[in-house]
Amino acid sequence: MLKLDEHTLENIVSPKDIAEHIAIHKEKLKKVQQGLIGAPACLGWFNIPKDIDGYVAPFISLAEEVHKIATTMIVVGIGGSNRGSMAVLQALHRKISSPTKVVYAGDTLSAAKLKDILHIIENEEVVLDIIAKDFNTLEPGITFRMLRTAIQEKYGDKYNQRVIVTGSYGPGQLYELAQKHGYTFLEFPENIGGRFSVLTAVGLFPMAVAGVNIRRVMEGAKAAEHYVKTTEIEDNSAVRYAISRSLLFDKGFKVESLVLFEPDLIHLGRWWVQLFAESEGKTPRALFPTSFMNSDDLHAVGQYIQEGPLWIAETFLHLFFENKDCIIPDSSVVQDGFDYITGKNFDHLNLSVYNAALQAHKDRGVACTQFIGKAIEPEFFGYFFYYFFFVSYASGIILDVNPFDQNGVEDYKKNMYTILGKNK
Ligand code: PA5
Repeated sequence: MLKLDEHTLENIVSPKDIAEHIAIHKEKLKKVQQGLIGAPACLGWFNIPKDIDGYVAPFISLAEEVHKIATTMIVVGIGGSNRGSMAVLQALHRKISSPTKVVYAGDTLSAAKLKDILHIIENEEVVLDIIAKDFNTLEPGITFRMLRTAIQEKYGDKYNQRVIVTGSYGPGQLYELAQKHGYTFLEFPENIGGRFSVLTAVGLFPMAVAGVNIRRVMEGAKAAEHYVKTTEIEDNSAVRYAISRSLLFDKGFKVESLVLFEPDLIHLGRWWVQLFAESEGKTPRALFPTSFMNSDDLHAVGQYIQEGPLWIAETFLHLFFENKDCIIPDSSVVQDGFDYITGKNFDHLNLSVYNAALQAHKDRGVACTQFIGKAIEPEFFGYFFYYFFFVSYASGIILDVNPFDQNGVEDYKKNMYTILGKNK
């Protein structure tokens, strides 16, 4: 479902370099492959449940209940609590249908965005899905209050039948609120961090509400799990890619961009950025992850890539929608200068710009890696998520950091608490 093509990278990182560095880290990597290194309390994502049907059934049946009462479900969450399902819904929106639309809130303190959501509450039948592993973060927490007040006004005492919370046990956490106020509770597993949580209630339930076949998502994750755990370390593309990333840093590449060519994959890029930024961004040796969307970015950052400093590596994702029926007509009356592509399929143009950009950047000396994806289907996302969980776990261990914490995020929160007078 996702194949690594290293040959475009060979001018910068050779198969020999990769093999040598795999040998150096082999003992650690073998432990990564078995989930025997790093914080065991954070490896809940490592084993995909064996009984996929049984695992997804409660999310599907709760989604069916939501379909009966809501035209819109508002997912309130930030970071790992929303990016995964957002990525899948954006990419599959043309292929899915559901009586209930899913929208997102709680990842900003913008009042303008909040008012858009309040407007939805006025005009639609809604359900809220509040997602927070630690229900202390201000953005989702205060958004919940604002939206809850609005639905209390609209639905009265029975508003609680329209609140689903995905969270943790313990004082002040969402389980306690659910018990006190009669909300439906879904567990945010204790041993899975936010950015590793898309294959739990956090991501799967909103996907099910939006009409995604979440069993197929999990089948894809299972396939990735099988691949990364059973392929010999030396041949394992997830390991090879993790090693090549650290070699790129040593060769002067400080930034890695996931390069996309389908605008509906922007949120997938954002998910990937968060995964690597929060998992690795705790040592001076971490690549800064970002994402470009071409063709548009070829007319923006493309200039910098082609003639600016050579410190940005690019990881091209060869993944496209198929639209065989989009043929370019002739234009004999208006002579627009584009006759050289008359009769070609539009898909062919996107593929051409992909190849053209890859070649130009490689020729310039940019470190270019490729992942070839098969089809933009539910299985692909499960595969992609699990595969990159594993890469970031392996990368974090190679970098000697704990890939599962994100203590740096607390600093802005502390300042904000001071500004807002939380502890007075
Ligand atoms: O990956 C992570 O753990 C973080 O990005 C969290 O998902 C994010 O900070 C939101 O945390 P919470 O769900 O506790 O509100």
